[in-house]
Amino acid sequence: MTFPHLLITGGAGFIGSNFVYHALKSNLARRITVIDALTYAGNLENLSAVAADPRLTFQRLDITDRPTLDSFFASTEFTHVIHLAAESHVDRSIAGPEAFVRTNVLGTFHLLEAVRKSWSGALSLQSVADRPNRLFLHVSTDEVFGSLGATGAFTEETPYRPNSPYAASKAGSDHLARAYHHTYGLPVIISNCSNNFGPFQFPEKLIPLIILNCLQSKPLPVYGDGQQVRDWLFVSDHCRALALLLTAGRVGECYNIGGSRERTNLDLVRAICRIMDQKRPAGAPHDRLITFVADRPGHDRRYAINSSKIQSELGWQPTQAGDRALEETVDWYIENRNWWEGILSGEYHEYYARQYGA
Ligand code: NAD
Ligand code: DAU
Repeated sequence: MTFPHLLITGGAGFIGSNFVYHALKSNLARRITVIDALTYAGNLENLSAVAADPRLTFQRLDITDRPTLDSFFASTEFTHVIHLAAESHVDRSIAGPEAFVRTNVLGTFHLLEAVRKSWSGALSLQSVADRPNRLFLHVSTDEVFGSLGATGAFTEETPYRPNSPYAASKAGSDHLARAYHHTYGLPVIISNCSNNFGPFQFPEKLIPLIILNCLQSKPLPVYGDGQQVRDWLFVSDHCRALALLLTAGRVGECYNIGGSRERTNLDLVRAICRIMDQKRPAGAPHDRLITFVADRPGHDRRYAINSSKIQSELGWQPTQAGDRALEETVDWYIENRNWWEGILSGEYHEYYARQYGA
């Protein structure tokens, strides 16, 4: 299926840029427009390999800027929207929650309003049950469900119990997206995914941070006792799931997406160290760099996702077994030193400031 015109918000971020590559490769849409505010986490360098593709257009746009958003929607018609733009880092949300409420809650509200207005002529409540000619896919997180004990997994029926300001702001945006479907008949699907990893992930998140610190012989910070459990998913598997939801997901439904790859943070950090020992024997053993540091306030202990709904309805499966994807990710960061050095030195952001204004 090839959509007429797909809008990707946050397409210069980690998952967004991976999704742009996936969408172009799989010919998901005849036209793809990316909007992104290019915050510290957005990086146009992520899209440089496809920048010349005639199907792709980029516009710097902040979803909290309603007047610009309205004129943008007035000038262009989209049939499908995948909403990935967000403030995404839990630690930053603890240090400064306001940006999270602004972008994740208010920005999502403005986007939903702009889309509702734009699609008002093309939709009716009755058409919503059918395969829609319009679709809004709201990409969310498993963190909205809170923290699990030693057993069990989040299902689509698990009540929301967000613990961090990030998770609470994502929960707020999920509720708005759901309400826009229920009240206005906007064709919405919501996805809740577990921890992603892979190319282009900003090096504040655990996996790229540990890889880069290994490469620079810096301490590897492990919060608390390192026994917190996350369910890791390779980003390309997430992108496949999102494309499937856009093409065949049921409107008004929520879908959990997870890798069924639970492991403790300490086990994960040690696995990266073992890979680094092979790739960079001069620095071995890298696990000597592991440093236990103060725990994250309110740190969720365990996440696990039951993805049986998307598996049984749409035939989706995570493809990555063992540590192959982790090794691939380590290779990507080794091979793309310019990318992360540009970020760490601030060079890219100075360049964007010159190109687009601060
Ligand atoms: P990211 O931080 O790498 O990228 C977010 C992108 O959104 C950046 O390009 C940034 O510039 C842009 N953005 C931020 N504020 C904006 C605004 N006001 N207007 C327009 N653009 C703005 O995040 P990510 O890890 O790629 O996550 C993408 C989405 O997926 C988020 O909604 C996140 O909650 C969700 N998610 C992430 C994970 C994960 O493990 N990374 C897992 C599940 C769900
Ligand atoms: O579960 C999905 C979520 O996964 C997404 O919604 C978020 O956008 C994404 O950032 C991620 O959140 P986490 O907080 O789980 O990811 P992070 O990489 O920040 O941390 C993973 C785990 O590692 C977490 O338990 C905290 C721990 N950690 C993290 C960092 C940065 C450390 O022990 N040391 C660190 O330095």
